[in-house]
Amino acid sequence: MGHANKIEKVRSALLRWYRAKGRDLPWRRTRDPYRIWVSEIMLQQTRVETVIDYYHRFLQVFPSVTALAGADLEAVLKVWEGLGYYARARNLHRGAQTIVEEWDGELPGTLQDLLCIPGIGRSTAGAILSLAFEISTPILDGNVKRVVARLFALRGDLKSPGVEQKLWKLSGALTPKRGVHHYTQAIMDLGAMICTPRKPDCPHCPLRNECKAFHLQWQEKIPSPTKKNSRPHHQVALGVIRKRGRILIYQRPSDGLLGGLWGFPNYRSRTRKGLLRALVQGVRKDYGIRMETGNPVGILSHGYTHFTVTFHLFECPCRDGEKIRKRAFPAKWVYPGELKNYPLASSDRKVIRKLSAISRQQSVKR
Ligand code: ADE
Repeated sequence: MGHANKIEKVRSALLRWYRAKGRDLPWRRTRDPYRIWVSEIMLQQTRVETVIDYYHRFLQVFPSVTALAGADLEAVLKVWEGLGYYARARNLHRGAQTIVEEWDGELPGTLQDLLCIPGIGRSTAGAILSLAFEISTPILDGNVKRVVARLFALRGDLKSPGVEQKLWKLSGALTPKRGVHHYTQAIMDLGAMICTPRKPDCPHCPLRNECKAFHLQWQEKIPSPTKKNSRPHHQVALGVIRKRGRILIYQRPSDGLLGGLWGFPNYRSRTRKGLLRALVQGVRKDYGIRMETGNPVGILSHGYTHFTVTFHLFECPCRDGEKIRKRAFPAKWVYPGELKNYPLASSDRKVIRKLSAISRQQSVKR
């Protein structure tokens, strides 16, 4: 079969399948570039089912580019809380400000301009142009990469620059000049619903007849399984530092991991024996606070993208008059009931749940 013929067949089979089986997702009912931008950023690295509630809530609170640009970053992080990859929220916020300053509050409709907005790479720009502006532009997110690699039986590491370049070219050839909105949604759905990373549902695939990997029975070999490096593990002491009913929280630097989110002071230690010392010394160095003791009250585990952590929780009472004397990071004393007003990292939410469970157990025992 000729290349052009194959491409035509793929497009028409894909669209027929999408009309019958495609998902009805909230961002597919709009052509508003702002809403599509928000959805595409949320959908980076996150599953559709997780995104839907966040999408509605985010647009309720920030219904326009101007509303988002004028908001406090902390309010944006609060709505994002729990969705992860917080750089995305910071980029959306900064991006909205860029759009207000440079483009009078309207998302630009060219690849070159979209690429100037923080957080928008080539694939996200392609999605915004195709979905909101109906401008034929290829995308190459994880799903599309896999579908295209299988259709043309491309072996090798899909992240390598050589293979990626071929994939962009093929994705570009597949992307139709007209009807690009439906085509783009369709290929993403096929990747999510049928052409899945493991055990793809080839018997129900509309592209089975055109798929080179299927003909060669290579569908499980593409993409080639990569060796997952095991993630390093850290022991971390976390202080629930209390003074007259209030707890100390600090804000993480905006350019680091979980940037801008608040949480309980915590310090890594190479040994378990050194945990309490690391905490006491750290809190003294960063905040000038002297703690009386630290009582171990529990542990919990948490996984991040590149490492895992065991948090060792210590209850640390302070004298009444103890003050924050240094501020390596913004820090404040808050009542437990106020914690809900701050954007907190998921691990810190876990700490709060653990503390509530501990205090319930103690009140039952008493
Ligand atoms: N993943 C990235 N963009 C998407 C979209 N618009 N619909 C479904 N999944 C997606």
